[in-house]
Amino acid sequence: MSTELQHPAPEHFILHISDTHFVADNDLLHGSVDSDENLRQLFRDFVKAQVKPEALVFTGDLADTGRPDAYVRLRNIVEPVAEELGAKIIWVMGNHDARTAFRSGLLDSDAGEESVDMVHDVNGLRIIALDSTVPGKHHGEISDEQLAWLSDVLATPAPHGTLIALHHPPVPSPLEMMAMFELREQSRFEKVIEGTDVRGILAGHLHYSTFSTFGGAPVTVASATCYTQDLNVAPKSMRGQNGAQAFNLIHIYQDKMLSTVVPIGEFSTVYSVTAEQMAAFEKMTLEEATAAMTAPGEESAVEPSTDVEAADGELAESVR
Ligand SMILES: [Fe+2]
Ligand SMILES: [Fe+2]
Repeated sequence: MSTELQHPAPEHFILHISDTHFVADNDLLHGSVDSDENLRQLFRDFVKAQVKPEALVFTGDLADTGRPDAYVRLRNIVEPVAEELGAKIIWVMGNHDARTAFRSGLLDSDAGEESVDMVHDVNGLRIIALDSTVPGKHHGEISDEQLAWLSDVLATPAPHGTLIALHHPPVPSPLEMMAMFELREQSRFEKVIEGTDVRGILAGHLHYSTFSTFGGAPVTVASATCYTQDLNVAPKSMRGQNGAQAFNLIHIYQDKMLSTVVPIGEFSTVYSVTAEQMAAFEKMTLEEATAAMTAPGEESAVEPSTDVEAADGELAESVR
């Protein structure tokens, strides 16, 4: 069963993680969520895929109250994984973070309360970490100085274009309450990125996965690794829930950004197909493959050829 490839291999592969909300002294977040363990679980599961992202992008709210020991524990979990994967780590400030502790804990840089804006080169892809936080507040703002800086950076295109990673997403929300905490004056930000080489925007803050466009670029919001927002709530209310945590795979193709949501956690197996079985399946004719996928109880019109017999049976059960 030969199929023609319609898409070339992606140019870049990024892991997008958000809102880890590590708490001080290794306590439980809101008395019930083990934020550290959720992130460990994410990486335990992710390495099974045996794929190598070029960068791990964390879009803010890394510590729940900006406590220094939270950043130390976060770094101790993430750095060995990044080293193993050969991936860069890109940290972005969130409204729950504290700039001085963030700087000293994650960036080894001197204390300072100015915004943490950085430009990273990931094999030709430029990733701009933009600090959308306002100290002491939960809504987002990008200052005139930051917009001027961003405009200046974007004036020179990067070899493979640019991703902007910031905490507060420039998108509407189905939760009315989120308007209180959103990024303000989004149109000014939009004017700066329109017509530039920005290929995508990565954000967090909402604690649920959502997607939109902004200034001609796709926007991907990664859910949280700590807890998520229940979207089935009455108007003007909110409910944090300990479930549905997720992270995103970001694949950059020549003309598009692909965002894929991956739930965190282990779930019961419905079926599984080994690589060997799939290889045998790919050798089948279209008729054989169709027959192999025939539902139990239905008549199979075609017998698979002998070299694919090993893949029959279990595959017929499994790929339905
Ligand atoms: Fe958050
Ligand atoms: Fe946030």
